[in-house]
Amino acid sequence: MTTAVEELMSSPPVTCGADTTLGEATALMDRRQIGSVVVTDRDAVVGILTERDLLRASATQVDPRRESVRRWMTADPDVLGPHDEVTAAWSGLTHHHYRHLPVVDGGDLVGVVSLRDLLSVAQIRPAGEAAADGPRGLEGVVVAATSVGDVRGQQGFFHYRQYSAVDLASDRSLEDVWHLLFDGTLPDRRRSAEFDHEVAGLRDLPPGLAGLLPSLAARGTPLDVLRSAVSILGSELGWTPTLDTGRRGLRAQALRLAAVVPTILTAVHRLQQGAEPVPPRQDLSYAANYLWMLTGREAPAAHVRAVEQYLILTLDHGFNASTFTARVITSTGADLAAAIVGAIGALSGPLHGGAPSRALAMLDDIGSPDRAEAWIRRAVARGDRIMGFGHRVYKTDDPRSVFLRHVARSLGGDLFDFAEQVERTAVDVLADLKPGRELYTNVEFFAGVVMHTCGIPRDMFTPTFASSRTIGWATHVMEQAADNRLIRPAARYVGPPPPQPVPIP
Ligand SMILES: CC(C)(COP(=O)(O)OP(=O)(O)OC[C@H]1O[C@@H](n2cnc3c(N)ncnc32)[C@H](O)[C@@H]1OP(=O)(O)O)[C@@H](O)C(=O)NCCC(=O)NCCS
Repeated sequence: MTTAVEELMSSPPVTCGADTTLGEATALMDRRQIGSVVVTDRDAVVGILTERDLLRASATQVDPRRESVRRWMTADPDVLGPHDEVTAAWSGLTHHHYRHLPVVDGGDLVGVVSLRDLLSVAQIRPAGEAAADGPRGLEGVVVAATSVGDVRGQQGFFHYRQYSAVDLASDRSLEDVWHLLFDGTLPDRRRSAEFDHEVAGLRDLPPGLAGLLPSLAARGTPLDVLRSAVSILGSELGWTPTLDTGRRGLRAQALRLAAVVPTILTAVHRLQQGAEPVPPRQDLSYAANYLWMLTGREAPAAHVRAVEQYLILTLDHGFNASTFTARVITSTGADLAAAIVGAIGALSGPLHGGAPSRALAMLDDIGSPDRAEAWIRRAVARGDRIMGFGHRVYKTDDPRSVFLRHVARSLGGDLFDFAEQVERTAVDVLADLKPGRELYTNVEFFAGVVMHTCGIPRDMFTPTFASSRTIGWATHVMEQAADNRLIRPAARYVGPPPPQPVPIP
């Protein structure tokens, strides 16, 4: 049950004019036993004067008998509506550190709500239970501190450690950025060569897993098989719970995991095509070796670099669902394999990582640019989501999409031209039918175009994403394990009130 602000606000509110003196306002607050007065001008709210403002004034030499409220009040304060839920009032008061908020209805001041009013309705619940509901989907809730990176949705910017991820994709190799994530620094030339050599030597499948892979490959999509394979990998290599594994040991496991995941995925793909797996090569970079194992041919340098840039851009991305999953599992002290298996499961959902092949399927279905507008209008009218558009955090261009559009353009081809036309149409149609939702292409849209152009088959799009994201997940697992606290939130029970008598048949 929700409570509206009007049910607990103080009304009528105590007001004064902006020319009232501080002395008069203090006397008024004292007389009425209140902590604030709303400052009005011809019934419109122009400010709020609180005890805090009076304290600030008293710390100076001003004469309260002469000084006007206007100079010390908070002008144009945030206001609430009478029908707002108290949760809105909570967030205003707690996030902005306000103690009082005016309540305005159709321009008229109708009350004031204070922290005291809110406390009067706060439920007294057993210790240990959450007192406040988080927003559905935990949007905007901070649940951990991280130095891995962050996403600034409003600015269309994301970074790994202290570097723009887009700059890293444009200037560095995947292995260098992997080193940045795992070890905290960008390597110099010598260290870079050492690290390349170290990880290239970890690509072979362990024999037990290699033996099982053909039968696993017959039983699901590459991502399904990856889940099982990572599980087996952890057991075969004897990975211990993170709770019992030191930092160096966990880093060694994480390196092995991230190096071998591409080998697992490409082997599964080939087995599913009825072909033999292509063993990894140590003389190739991560991206070149990925394409080599997938096709058995050395890919052109432009394709290698395009795929590498895609992989760099998808290494990590804030507290997305799969990363959060990996950290929750790690917080229980479970082993690295358990955390990654959970993360792969979260990534497999179409609302997270499963979209790039669907975006291409949409392009296929649209068929030609002249059909795009009608197709998209029909889809939105049916309530369908346009795949590859919209993002929980970005309300402007997704920087990954901007960069991948540029990569796709440099690769060229008919598919890119068509995709760009569909993008323009979809953005316009979504702005028309879903105004104010700020829906633009996300990473998935041009990712599909880049991967397709570089010869990665569609059923390998999300697995390729999983391959690079494994590096990000593993980084988060290490960070969580290094400073762990069990992640255990609460849920609000909304079923029939317990305890009910148990029916006896
Ligand atoms: C990514 C995504 C799940 C984020 O969703 P979210 O933050 O939960 O956004 P919401 O579901 O609250 O959507 C807000 C509004 O925008 C609309 N919307 C969001 N994405 C949309 C899309 N791709 N196509 C059409 N409408 C969309 C919703 O219908 C909703 O409209 P409403 O206010 O009329 O109900 C969502 O944009 C989506 O489903 N996109 C398509 C799938 C995709 O590309 N996934 C890859 C993500 S990297």
